Amino acid sequence: MKKYLIALMMALAPMTASAAGGTVALDPIATDLTNKASLQNGMATFVNRCMGCHQAGYQRFERAAQDLEIPANLVEQYMIFDPNKKIGEQMTVAMASADAKKWFGNPPPDLSLETRLRGADWVYTYLRSFYKDTKRPWGVNNVVFPDVGMPNVLQDLQGEVVNHCTPEELLAAAHGNKVDPLTGQKMASCKSVTPNSGSMSEEEFDKTVYDLVNFMSYMAEPSKMVSGRIGTYVLIFLAILFVFAYALKKEYWKDVH
Ligand code: HEC
Repeated sequence: MKKYLIALMMALAPMTASAAGGTVALDPIATDLTNKASLQNGMATFVNRCMGCHQAGYQRFERAAQDLEIPANLVEQYMIFDPNKKIGEQMTVAMASADAKKWFGNPPPDLSLETRLRGADWVYTYLRSFYKDTKRPWGVNNVVFPDVGMPNVLQDLQGEVVNHCTPEELLAAAHGNKVDPLTGQKMASCKSVTPNSGSMSEEEFDKTVYDLVNFMSYMAEPSKMVSGRIGTYVLIFLAILFVFAYALKKEYWKDVH
């Protein structure tokens, strides 16, 4: 029985791997839930740039405000755009799923758990991998999500990315200037941005997307912040308990030995 299970798992493993992004090399990031400034910045970007279409139905504004240490009145004033919505409610949007499907081909999915579904690296790479493609309805395509139904909503920050590469080159190395490991020289980049078409430098843009994905990782597992802290206390408690338990054991056994 065990053997069959292992065989089954091995058969399924490649499927899960390819669902997470095919052959494209993802740009790795290390998320950091202790960096409150980054999380706050990410939440601001999320409500301003993403919640026009996507919702985060498992997340409440109030909980995020508490966890990220943003004063509730600031969240009410600057992050909740629907006048009928209260801070205790979920981060949902009014767009009807049926309309969204008509407009975009696919409805924008709920993003509460997106980084758990795809991984933070995938989301980080995806948001930075739109490029000009006049054959697509929104004039853009995406390296890690071919023929995506989402427009490049961050284009005014990043600039218009025009690629002059074959699809194979794109797949091989589409992200920024990679250093050639043999020569230490910067390799010719596959990515080129129309000059002055974006309001941010490449570093600034990467940082903005990093903060956004950091926030999305928090959202996918809000209790992780608390459980990390509690875990430390539990270990300290166990260490202290051990001293007393050991002393008690010695006391009980002292006449036997
Ligand atoms: C104009 C509407 C719109 C906005 C604004 C928007 N998206 Fe999307 N997004 C979509 C649509 C539509 C899809 C579905 C695309 C598809 O399946 O082809 C999508 C898909 C995605 C996906 C892939 C989901 C999956 O796993 O299949 C991610 C991740 C995503 N969006 C993140 C974001 C983030 C982060 C923002 C804010 C910076 C954002 N989106 C803003 C419309 C939007």
